[in-house]
Amino acid sequence: TEQLRASAIEVLRLNDLGTMTTAAPNLYPHMWSWDAAFVAIGLARFDVPRAITELRTLLAAQWTTGMIPHIVFTDDDTGYFPGFERWGTAGAAALPAGIKSSGICQPPVHAIALLHILDRARENGGSDREAAESFLAESFDGWLAWHRWLATVRDPDRVGLVEIHHGWESGFDNSPRWDGPYSRVVPGAVEPFTRRDTQHVTDASERPDDEEYTKYLWLVQQMASVGFEDRAVQEVIGFRVRDVFFSGILAASSDVLAGLGEELGRHDEAAELRQLAVRFRDGVASTVDPGTGLARDYDVLAEEWISTDTVSGFAPLVAGGDRILLDRQRQLLRGPQWMGHPDLRFPLPPSTSPTSPAFRPRTYWRGPVWPFLNLLFGWASMRDGQEALSSELRSASLEQLSDLKFAEYYDPLTGRPLGSFAQAWTAAAALEWIG
Ligand code: DGY
Repeated sequence: TEQLRASAIEVLRLNDLGTMTTAAPNLYPHMWSWDAAFVAIGLARFDVPRAITELRTLLAAQWTTGMIPHIVFTDDDTGYFPGFERWGTAGAAALPAGIKSSGICQPPVHAIALLHILDRARENGGSDREAAESFLAESFDGWLAWHRWLATVRDPDRVGLVEIHHGWESGFDNSPRWDGPYSRVVPGAVEPFTRRDTQHVTDASERPDDEEYTKYLWLVQQMASVGFEDRAVQEVIGFRVRDVFFSGILAASSDVLAGLGEELGRHDEAAELRQLAVRFRDGVASTVDPGTGLARDYDVLAEEWISTDTVSGFAPLVAGGDRILLDRQRQLLRGPQWMGHPDLRFPLPPSTSPTSPAFRPRTYWRGPVWPFLNLLFGWASMRDGQEALSSELRSASLEQLSDLKFAEYYDPLTGRPLGSFAQAWTAAAALEWIG
């Protein structure tokens, strides 16, 4: 583990630009919102002030609406497509001055990261503790505005589920979850483009395909056509889905933020956040298919449930809540369709079940194992007093990561590292698992 720790720290240093960490050296030379949160968790294991800086940089890009954008761009406009120009966010009224960002969001794991920073800082004491506590006081209103924006703009009907407008917002870009909704996205004239991702990841089967990319860009164009204005986007966009996993994270994170608000004596806001946590936890539970035991997304435009055998079906384990539901989910997770599948290299949940016809072991979100996700499940297990599950995930993850590649994702059957290597949040997950 000493070697794993040293190598993981090295990866975070290599990706460090000073006040932000790139998600990966070549494929993702910018800051991604939920990557940054996991990166902060890893940084807090050896450098609390630097972990604080990571979240501060991200929060500085918060739109005036409260949205935290999914990419904060560096000035490197060569490595990644679509860059700031192509996004067309320069003219968006809510983009803060001097910031270059995308115009969509990602799951709100940030309060969970903040809690990790505080925990480490309190263990260390001294100036770390002071810095973390003053960052909490300084940033609380920003995180609160972010949760409020999600709870209002993205859940206008108050069903306890967050509506997303692009697969990229889920973070599960090309998951089979979105095949139905994307099959109904009919791109108009998309400006010509050249992908860069397939120049870095040379085996194209590990990435989404060109048809998928055309739709991704069409949705961006639709948003840009209305200046990324929230209400207008909802009217023009060809992709409207209630994302159950995103919602589960909002529930968990709102509880955490409520606890932090209480610490600050912000009792009204804490009570409001507790209510949000209940609303989204109930929303997540309401999607569970009684037959399969898995939580489901909902396609707003097609007015139908989306049933897929994907790891997002375990959203209740992240959200927390009803004991009977969670026990059943844990049993399912350990069962032969998931962690207990006989062909797995390591007993870790693949992004899509190997028993599903949609399973592709090497293709991005269609099958590979994502290490950061296992860390999230591990954290939620500890929160719920499920130490055994957490330690199963931990030991399998440490074994998986001992190849020192810090890959973006892994083939669940062979254990082969895939996508980008030296991925920052994978290194961060390793550091947090080591403890
Ligand atoms: C990508 O470019 O693949 C990212 O996941 C988009 O956010």
